[in-house]
Amino acid sequence: MIYYFSGTGNSQYVAEKLAHELDDKVMNLVEVEQLSLDKTIVVVCPIYSWLVPEIVMDFMRNLNLQSHQSLYLVVTCGDNVGRAIDRLKREVRLDGAYSIAMPNNYVIGFDVDPELEQTAKILAARGQVDQIAEDIRQGLRVERINKGRFAQYFGSFAGTMFQRFARTTKPFYVQEQCISCSMCADECPVHSIEMVDGKPVWVKSTCQMCLKCLHTCPVEAIQYGRSTLNKGRYTYEKWSQSHRD
Ligand SMILES: Cc1cc2nc3c(=O)[nH]c(=O)nc-3n(C[C@H](O)[C@H](O)[C@H](O)COP(=O)(O)O)c2cc1C
Ligand code: SF4
Ligand code: SF4
Repeated sequence: MIYYFSGTGNSQYVAEKLAHELDDKVMNLVEVEQLSLDKTIVVVCPIYSWLVPEIVMDFMRNLNLQSHQSLYLVVTCGDNVGRAIDRLKREVRLDGAYSIAMPNNYVIGFDVDPELEQTAKILAARGQVDQIAEDIRQGLRVERINKGRFAQYFGSFAGTMFQRFARTTKPFYVQEQCISCSMCADECPVHSIEMVDGKPVWVKSTCQMCLKCLHTCPVEAIQYGRSTLNKGRYTYEKWSQSHRD
């Protein structure tokens, strides 16, 4: 069984391709009602500020793996993962771990990658997924992670600051071009948004900060303070629609 969490579709794409290669089932972990007893469990998710997202940490802590089960983690990231996997391994037994660079969606801190770079990352990722599937098929216990050069200095600091200060929903707001489609509210994975008088309102003080609402709004009406103004928007789906073979 392949479980995934995804804001803008990168991790969902990787999970679905892995499931295809392994002839396995795939499921969004926010929709799981009953845990799988399959021999091999794979979790796919993004990296947030050099951490595995809290919702995924909780999911993995509660997997209650049986002795016959193996657990693999595949993370997607814009660049590198710092000490995310080391931190996770303090609490969860992992049989293998991989990181895959995919287009960056953290437009609060940076801009989206140029289109050519997005394409180069996605094409390279496809080959990596094939290799990961082969490793898993063979039952190899491999860790192929890009920690980045500065992980040992700033790894813990970046994660702690993110958890404390960068998950607030306060800076979210909606601009006047909003067409009241309610997609943002319907698709927030942690139900942080409600529609009030036809406009989205962030009703929880913190959220996972997956940026799905911001990137998938069809009229780009959602901003996070001033930092997302004049930045691009990215989803794997939009990329794939404009790169049909
Ligand atoms: C809040 C947040 C923090 C992020 N932090 C990192 C990071 O520390 N390192 C990195 O390489 N990418 C980082 N990214 C980029 C994402 O990990 C990357 O784009 C990922 O593939 C998105 O996956 P998704 O499309 O499945 O949501 C961050 C993205 C968000 C939204
Ligand atoms: S997705 Fe965009 S257009 Fe639709 S309700 Fe949300 S902010 Fe408005
Ligand atoms: S409010 Fe937006 S950024 Fe926060 S979890 Fe929901 S979709 Fe993701």
